[in-house]
Amino acid sequence: MSETILIVGSGAREHAIATAFARSSLQPKLVCFSGARNPGIVALCSAYGVGNITDPGAVAAFAREQHATMAIIGPEAPLAAGVADSLWAVKIPVVGPTQGLARIESSKGFTRELLTKYRIPGNPFFQRFHSFDGLEEVLVRYANQHVIKDDGLAGGKGVKVCGDHLLSIEDSLAFCRELVAHGHPFVVEEKVEGEEFSLMSFCDGTTLRHMPAVQDHKRAYEGDKGPNTGGMGTYTDVDHKLPFLDDTDIAAAQEINERVAAALAEECGAPYQGILYGGFMATRDGVKLIEYNARFGDPESLNLLTLLETDFVGLCRAIVDGTLADMDVRFAAKASVCKYVVPEGYPDNPRKGDAVLLPADLPEGVAMFLSAVDVQDNVLIATGSRTIAIVGTAATIGEAEALCERVVREIPGRFFHRVDIGTGTAIARRVEHMKAVRSA
Ligand code: AMP
Ligand code: GLY
Repeated sequence: MSETILIVGSGAREHAIATAFARSSLQPKLVCFSGARNPGIVALCSAYGVGNITDPGAVAAFAREQHATMAIIGPEAPLAAGVADSLWAVKIPVVGPTQGLARIESSKGFTRELLTKYRIPGNPFFQRFHSFDGLEEVLVRYANQHVIKDDGLAGGKGVKVCGDHLLSIEDSLAFCRELVAHGHPFVVEEKVEGEEFSLMSFCDGTTLRHMPAVQDHKRAYEGDKGPNTGGMGTYTDVDHKLPFLDDTDIAAAQEINERVAAALAEECGAPYQGILYGGFMATRDGVKLIEYNARFGDPESLNLLTLLETDFVGLCRAIVDGTLADMDVRFAAKASVCKYVVPEGYPDNPRKGDAVLLPADLPEGVAMFLSAVDVQDNVLIATGSRTIAIVGTAATIGEAEALCERVVREIPGRFFHRVDIGTGTAIARRVEHMKAVRSA
């Protein structure tokens, strides 16, 4: 069957998704619906609709108009808004969970309680709140050792961590007051210490196929300093583990994903079909769950889709048909390093409108994905968020980093990136940190 695949979203993640489809021997027709025109995606698509991606009716109407045979939803907001439900309703199968199942990302309290109910390991202590009832007792019990999370999607602004954003009990109470005033439920949980990693799995509702582990870098500046961002860069290792993790950590994270997929199917009475992204922390007491996402990570997916050897169209078909058990999902035995180039001032006060000059030729082993860019008067300009991602792949993390850095540093203009991501020094620091955490 010849596929017409709808991609919803227009960041670098969706550019990487489109690129992976475009490599397929099945030669699908690609169409995109999004809030902005990403020229990298435009070049790979035969139709491109611009509109509100969180409007289920608008997305379904575009999909029908284009005779889409399958869809994949990149970002979380349309998943939480029920866009997958509206596509299934017009008989277009979707890689990406329906609204009820997407609560694994859109409600932090739902996720914590799901783990508890199904006796899945990985939860730190947590408690859900709608008001101040019982709050002070928990904040005092976990003094300087708690994290407060808006229950719902808050674009990365809904989580505050002791020692980081919260320096006193007054800070914690003030944040809770703000949440209560806005009528937002919230979760207070124990702050755990260790190294974070992402473990994503393809899921057809029953069978999971795990991807290599990835480490993201959320802070804007070198040495993990500065404000939180959507993620400045990521790396994977040649053995598909990470240098600071044991086999038992990987196995524990994979098992949590498997049990969560099964619990979701039982709880919601429907299969979770899409990407299940576990955000974990390796700690002294084993692997703890930090959060779930109901989609590909960005930038994690840029590394992984570049390394993916299995035909991505066939893989997505297997996810929506429930036949993943018949598929062998393979990734290249290579390491990868991804770095984002972002405008000066990102994330708090980014420059906007600067021209972006793309490298003329990419060396062998380097891929490039466009993110927050637009074309004005035939000039590619940066619109203020993460701008371009460069992924290097090679036999070692060090070689992949060198390849990536060589291209990134050639991009001119008032942009910056994190030089340290994937360097030997940065990795050694993480390995040392993990050793210290385990022996504490
Ligand atoms: P989230 O939006 O849930 O990923 O949280 C944002 C960041 O807050 C995570 O990447 C972690 O660095 C940190 N964080 C969240 N929950 C915890 C926790 N229970 N313990 C320590 N750090 C946490
Ligand atoms: N890289 C973090 C995320 O995609 O949420």
